[in-house]
Amino acid sequence: MVWHKTISAKALEKVGHTSVKVGNEVVFISNIEGKFYAMDGTCSHAKCILGSIDKSTMKVKCACHDAVFELGTGRMVEPPYVAPNAPMDKLGLKTYPIKEEKGFIEVDLQ
Ligand code: FES
Repeated sequence: MVWHKTISAKALEKVGHTSVKVGNEVVFISNIEGKFYAMDGTCSHAKCILGSIDKSTMKVKCACHDAVFELGTGRMVEPPYVAPNAPMDKLGLKTYPIKEEKGFIEVDLQ
C-alpha cells in the first residue's frame, strides 16, 4: 500500500466532504459520522468533478447531468439525464482505502 497524505482530519470533519488532488487523480473524500470514504472524484460520464453528497442516502450526485453514485461502492445507481440508457454497470467509480494518520487523511490509490 502507498498512502498519500491529503487534508487534515479536522478540515474534513468541518466540511464533511471534498475533492482533493492526489498525484494525477481527483479523489472524493468524506467523513460521515466519523467513518471515512474515498472514491474517484471524477464522474465516469463526462469527467465533471463530483462535489455533493446526500448523507442520509450515502449517495453522491454529479452536478453536470445528475448521475448518482453509491458512496461505499462507487456503483452508479442513477444514469446521467442526458444518457438514460447508459450502461450503469460499466460506469462505476473506483473506491480507495482511506485512514487517518497523525491528524491527516491518507488514501491509497493502488
Ligand atoms: S459528467 Fe457526471 S453526469 Fe455527466
